[in-house]
Amino acid sequence: MEIFVDRERELEALERCWLERPCFVVVYGRRRIGKTRLVKEFLKGRKHVYFFAQLTNHRDNLRRLASAVADALGFEELKSMEFESLDKLLTLVARFEKDLVVVLDEFSYWVRVAPRVLSELQLFVDEVLPNTKMMLVVVGSVYTVMVKEILSGGSPLYGRAKAKLLVKELDPLYIKEFVPRYSPEDRVRIYALFGGVPYYLRLIDDRKSLRENVKDLILAPYAPLRYEKDFVLREEFRDVHTYNAILSAIAKGFDTPSRIADVLGLDRGYVAKCLYILEELNIVSREVPLFSRRALRYVISDPILRTWYNIVEPVLHLLELELVDEALEIVMRRLDNYVAKVFEELVRRILFQIYAKQGFTEVGRVVHRGEEIDIVFLDPERRRAIAVEVKWSDVKYEEALRELRKLQNKAFRLLSGYTIEKTMLVVRSVEDSKPSDVLTVRDLGI
Ligand SMILES: Nc1ncnc2c1ncn2[C@@H]1O[C@H](COP(=O)(O)OP(=O)(O)OP(=O)(O)O)[C@@H](O)[C@H]1O
Ligand SMILES: [Mg+2]
Repeated sequence: MEIFVDRERELEALERCWLERPCFVVVYGRRRIGKTRLVKEFLKGRKHVYFFAQLTNHRDNLRRLASAVADALGFEELKSMEFESLDKLLTLVARFEKDLVVVLDEFSYWVRVAPRVLSELQLFVDEVLPNTKMMLVVVGSVYTVMVKEILSGGSPLYGRAKAKLLVKELDPLYIKEFVPRYSPEDRVRIYALFGGVPYYLRLIDDRKSLRENVKDLILAPYAPLRYEKDFVLREEFRDVHTYNAILSAIAKGFDTPSRIADVLGLDRGYVAKCLYILEELNIVSREVPLFSRRALRYVISDPILRTWYNIVEPVLHLLELELVDEALEIVMRRLDNYVAKVFEELVRRILFQIYAKQGFTEVGRVVHRGEEIDIVFLDPERRRAIAVEVKWSDVKYEEALRELRKLQNKAFRLLSGYTIEKTMLVVRSVEDSKPSDVLTVRDLGI
């Protein structure tokens, strides 16, 4: 049976919209993140028309939409009719059947081949939709199109959507549903490699070892992730080369605008502009420490691109020679180094869900005069703080105690003015018994 997890919040938002119909909703997000599936779950038991646009011309998409409507509603006459615009077709649908959901999936493709479909949609939303009981859902993945053309201030449709639903990665605590046979440690590795992107999580076969999955899904000649970087970049950018070079530089540790500009020989202002766009698309993010306004560094936040640049690119020369086993050897040897970086972010996400409810609404790294605390949760109202140090390693009891004491001292120095509520060490595992205030992967519930 196909599993479906998480997404309560998103389904509720759609449900609210349905209750207030007529309404117009935009569902958007990166490729493979689960937009179509979310909408399909919502459609269960409701009268609907579901349409999937293609990279074909306007007339052809209209004809195929008419045929989808005809099949869904038993409105056979539509099949022999010709339409010249989306608003005319939708107007007829609304006249025939008022109380229903109409979904236009991959709408970004349609916009790309026929930009005028946007103003046709706008005309329908403004003039006809208010007099119907229709819920109109537009779904799309190409961020540039969705964000620039549909959701940004200058676009004609901006402000008309009642709900804008950005579909994000699944909560990491659901990873176990996709790989129940794996240990919590391997689930952390899976999270590092594939993030909460359901399309990839579904491809993993947990009867095989992690190593075999890395080979089959990432490195083998037809492995789906091997070409994913080009696919994602080509969908979003015309100038693929520059973005590719910038992301590659970030993964290699050239992670500030000036370092990137220097290593690539590019103008700094131009790099800043590209980084701004990458940030808008949720591909990179700026790490800004607490108590500071200046970004420390840029990091790749898209999980699949992050894995591609950190895992695939360094062994690309071997893959091009089809030396897959040699590449696999290297990847597996370095894997835990990579996981270590992502583990901290995972711990932050999981703990923030807990502490935000207790008033600790700010989170970040603290950096001061060469000293760092990995994660600090702050309660700005009551001036309380929780300090956390994260280590992706197996430690001994004594070592854990030592680390905790070090953290306590650091916290007093770096967080003066705050009551330190708690100091915590999160590690992969502790040999022998575990001191209090030490968490292992198994305590995280992943
Ligand atoms: N919440 C979920 N629980 C379990 N599986 C899911 C979930 N969401 C999506 N999936 C599965 O992940 C895969 C990708 O999802 P889906 O096709 O909905 O993504 P999408 O965002 O529409 O992708 P694209 O941008 O490529 O159209 C599908 O096989 C889907 O069944
Ligand atoms: Mg889809």
